[in-house]
Amino acid sequence: MIRIIDVHIDYEQGGGAFGSGASEIVHALKGVTLDINNNDYVAIVGPSGSGKSTLITAIAGLIGLVKGDIFVDKYKLTRAGRGRQAKIRAKYFGIIFQFSEMLGRFTVEENLRFAYVAAHGAIDEGYHTRLKYLAEMLDMFPLLTSYPGKLSGGQLQKTAIARALVKDSAFILADEPSGDLDPESVARVKKLLREEHERGKGILLVTHDNKLASDATSVFEMRGGKISSHLK
Ligand SMILES: Nc1ncnc2c1ncn2[C@@H]1O[C@H](COP(=O)(O)OP(=O)(O)OP(=O)(O)O)[C@@H](O)[C@H]1O
Ligand SMILES: [Mg+2]
Repeated sequence: MIRIIDVHIDYEQGGGAFGSGASEIVHALKGVTLDINNNDYVAIVGPSGSGKSTLITAIAGLIGLVKGDIFVDKYKLTRAGRGRQAKIRAKYFGIIFQFSEMLGRFTVEENLRFAYVAAHGAIDEGYHTRLKYLAEMLDMFPLLTSYPGKLSGGQLQKTAIARALVKDSAFILADEPSGDLDPESVARVKKLLREEHERGKGILLVTHDNKLASDATSVFEMRGGKISSHLK
């Protein structure tokens, strides 16, 4: 399970490189508490700037906390060193970032391959099965041999989804996975997430799309760095 306990996160904004200009502290998360069990499908909605992406970044172990703790199974993520955090991230999480980056010098399929190896150590039969399934579900066979720099925004988003899911890890963290997609692709992503949930994955989905959120078993709203209501 993922256990998020009273998490506070600040960002320092502005301020010049040599101490010129005033900097300002933004309290992006102000005490978020949430449990995500292995077979939960949790969606978070809420206005722009309410802290949704910051929460995903924190669970991924990519940002320091001012206060609070995050546990992933028995691991205290927030007290682990960077190397250990990276290992936990690779093994436990398939993460679809709001703005994801691919390795531009490698094909889409190679990018997926690297993600798999980071989690499993080597390519095996599981990789080929997963690759085929995801390429079919997301209708992206022709993209596998392309280079990321040649893809459209929507194609890139599908690639980011496939890269996150190819590892078959216990949890999926998805930050606006459908923002750049056409309606047919959104429907495919919706079905894919539903199937992953049925297979026992724990899912945390951040979205502005109520239709996409409708498959979630719990829906929370965030406002001003806090979970403000439990909508479902
Ligand atoms: N890297 C950063 N540096 C400084 N401030 C940041 C950074 N990332 C986010 N913030 C600030 O933290 C707050 C929360 O931002 P966050 O990106 O988590 O919002 P969000 O809910 O994901 O919004 P959106 O729906 O637009 O994606 C905002 O006030 C934002 O300006
Ligand atoms: Mg965001």
